[in-house]
Amino acid sequence: MSEEPDSNVEEIARKLFSGPVSFLKSAPALKFLPDATAPEVAFAGRSNVGKSSLLNKLANRTGLARTSNTPGRTQELNFFEVGDPLRFRLVDMPGYGFAKAPKDVVRKWRFLINDYLRGRAVLKRTLVLVDSRHGIKDVDREVMKMLDEAAVSYQLVLTKADKVKATELEEVTRRTAEEARRHVAAYPEIIATSSETGFGMDRLREEVVRAALA
Ligand code: GTP
Ligand code: MG
Repeated sequence: MSEEPDSNVEEIARKLFSGPVSFLKSAPALKFLPDATAPEVAFAGRSNVGKSSLLNKLANRTGLARTSNTPGRTQELNFFEVGDPLRFRLVDMPGYGFAKAPKDVVRKWRFLINDYLRGRAVLKRTLVLVDSRHGIKDVDREVMKMLDEAAVSYQLVLTKADKVKATELEEVTRRTAEEARRHVAAYPEIIATSSETGFGMDRLREEVVRAALA
């Protein structure tokens, strides 16, 4: 961050995320996006990977973003504001790769996600969430390729780390990092998290603040 020395990032992240975080609006289509007046960090990933849960945990607020056992819960781009005065926004997105949703819905979400990710000038980083139990899937690779081609920087974040053994988490982190290195727009560093236990959350808060306020 330009105005703040690196050693302060941890402190700034802690303060920002324990301060005001509020829902701004839902955008079902691009024309409903809020004015691009603040930096944004977006949460992408397959349906049910834990995007909304991670956003809630990051902000220490249960129920800020709606979560569900059933894939397909988040159906629009949901914008949340961090800081008062506003410092940056978090964007919770619909999941991709949800096979059971009607085809026209899947298409609509795909266009919405892709158009937003490719065209948003204030988007500083996209977090691409990957389930620790499954690792990167082909549908993730398609999104990663799209982001590489559009030169949108992204970071892979492993979710649900509480669901795997420590050795498995190590192995999936290693494999994921190896694959990230082959993608031009991907950060080489992988962050493993659990919205259940809070594992990895301080590190993720720091990364988000670093990306948003760079
Ligand atoms: P869509 O909006 O449908 O794309 O899903 P999403 O990616 O937002 O997932 P959501 O946060 O709604 O979580 C899906 C399910 O996974 C819920 O039942 C959550 O409780 C569960 N879940 C999310 N994160 C974790 C985690 O870190 N650990 C465990 N054990 N369960 C989790
Ligand atoms: Mg969701």
